[in-house]
Amino acid sequence: MKPSWRRPQIKGSETVSFKDKVDEIRRDFPIFSRLERGKPLRYLDSAATSQRPIQVIRAVEEFYEMHNSNVHSGVYELSEEASAAYSGARKKVAVFLGAQPKELVFTRNATEALNLVAFSWGRANLKPGDRVLLTQMEHHSNLVPWQMLAQEKGLKLGFVRITDDGLLDEESLKDELAKKPKLFALVHASNVLGTINDVKLYGKMAHEVGSLVLVDGAQSAPHMRVDVKDMDCDFFAVSGHKMLAPLGIGALYAKEDVLSSMPPFMTGGGMIREVTEEFTTFDDIPYRFEAGTPNIGGAVGFGAAIDYLEGLGMNWVRDHERRLTAYALDLISGVKGVKVYGPMDPDRRGGVISFNVEGVHAHDVAQVLDEEGVTIRSGHHCAMTIMERYGIPATARASFYVYNAEDDVDALVRGIQRVKQVFGVG
Ligand code: ALA
Repeated sequence: MKPSWRRPQIKGSETVSFKDKVDEIRRDFPIFSRLERGKPLRYLDSAATSQRPIQVIRAVEEFYEMHNSNVHSGVYELSEEASAAYSGARKKVAVFLGAQPKELVFTRNATEALNLVAFSWGRANLKPGDRVLLTQMEHHSNLVPWQMLAQEKGLKLGFVRITDDGLLDEESLKDELAKKPKLFALVHASNVLGTINDVKLYGKMAHEVGSLVLVDGAQSAPHMRVDVKDMDCDFFAVSGHKMLAPLGIGALYAKEDVLSSMPPFMTGGGMIREVTEEFTTFDDIPYRFEAGTPNIGGAVGFGAAIDYLEGLGMNWVRDHERRLTAYALDLISGVKGVKVYGPMDPDRRGGVISFNVEGVHAHDVAQVLDEEGVTIRSGHHCAMTIMERYGIPATARASFYVYNAEDDVDALVRGIQRVKQVFGVG
């Protein structure tokens, strides 16, 4: 049965104001018709996963209703339709990132993309004693695979330190690059501090010492224009579900020559050219890295999400979030007893704001806010090296996206005041 929700009819949007535009965007997201204990849903956890617009939900629904079949199997028309939908989605995601379709491997998420680099490229190219450079602000998905590989192959890991302001320490970066790592794997936008790293500059510095460059773009690609060719990174990982697409679909970009040189990571159907009892030859890129039946419906939804974001314009998305972040930083940091982490300059950060209320655990902050209909994440956010750096067990974290506006931030700040009342602090 189809959901009863239908997108409300709205007038042409050429002249709508900033606030009107967010209202219009919200009407595309069925979930915002829901009330939390009689209050509007204030969804401030898009760094964990975004909500999905009706255009994405319908695209997935239509694929399963009218075009569902497997991509590898058939010469029949239905399979050709599914194949065209899948390759069309690959092209959309590739163009969105500034890549060629053959340089884009579909994965489950950014985590799988990062693991693919570690266990395909890393295993084939790194030898005992080689160094992999990370930063202290990596998500566990760009740290744990390298630790595992380091144990397996006798590699050495280095870490670029974080300054008190939540930026990468450029002296520490220079010291680490002088040790000539084989790979510099760094996050583009931190999921805890919001910091946007200058990956183009740092990547150039790394290339100058002969290192390849892997960028974790899970928290950047949803929020700003990314051009992997201009960035000149060797690898770039994204998750669809953080950028309006369904769960379970992501992508790895790798430069054509690098990807072509990599051995498969997973093997099976859909990635071979010829198999005998003795040997197997593998398909071209990117199919060599997509063993088994892929998430075709997810890819179709990813393509629809890209269409939606391109319709808004990534410059608008970044500008909107920069303004909202500036507004939020000002208000939240002005609340007595609240500490905000990460850079305070909205030009150096994205719409992710970690904070703590003095004397209250982050989980308690999140619980009281939930009673107000305000959803934030609390905990270590899968980045325990950041918690260690600041000597804290956890933070509360609010994160914004295209459907958030000042009214959400106002509700958050009212909620923080209520937290202080409930716990009798400040
Ligand atoms: N990595 C996601 C987050 O930071 C899940 O919330």
